[in-house]
Amino acid sequence: MHKSAILAIAVAATTALTGIGYAVAQSPAASIEQRQAAMKMNGASMKTLVPMARGEAPWNQAAAIQALENLQRIGQQTVAMFPRGSGTESGTKTAALPAIWEKAPEFAAAAKAQADAAEALLRAARANDEAAFKSGFGAMGRSCGGCHEGFRAKQ
Ligand code: HEC
Repeated sequence: MHKSAILAIAVAATTALTGIGYAVAQSPAASIEQRQAAMKMNGASMKTLVPMARGEAPWNQAAAIQALENLQRIGQQTVAMFPRGSGTESGTKTAALPAIWEKAPEFAAAAKAQADAAEALLRAARANDEAAFKSGFGAMGRSCGGCHEGFRAKQ
């Protein structure tokens, strides 16, 4: 099978599983729209989790697991949502900085930090271990700022 066909199937499978679709060789504008939607979902997940981590909302295991699964999945997919050519040079409004492509390994590491933090917290959440969730939550929050700091234009 042609390599691109295999990739297309893999992406279709991912899309079916996640509901966040991104196609191979789609337009920069489509990549930008989809990653901004994914980032908004990151924001929504954090809005669920932060009050629980601070003890301002009651522990809700199911909601925590769902939010953490979303954070893990998006963290795993973030690099693919930033294809070369989808920076400001695309002409579409984006806060993506050139550093994303100039320092690709660092960007990938920042995305992995999100996925890894979510994975660690998922172990706590699945064990219904609220204390471990709370004590480990700092890494999750730091993963957002850790990437925005160098890779996202200041708002
Ligand atoms: C690996 C890098 C990276 C990580 C990790 C990351 N972000 Fe982002 N985020 C970005 C970049 C780059 C943009 C700008 C995207 C664009 O405008 O094309 C962005 C944009 C956003 C936006 C604005 C979306 C919009 O409407 O335009 C929100 C909200 C956001 N991020 C939330 C989060 C949260 C919450 C986390 C942590 C759970 C997070 N991000 C983790 C890189 C990252």
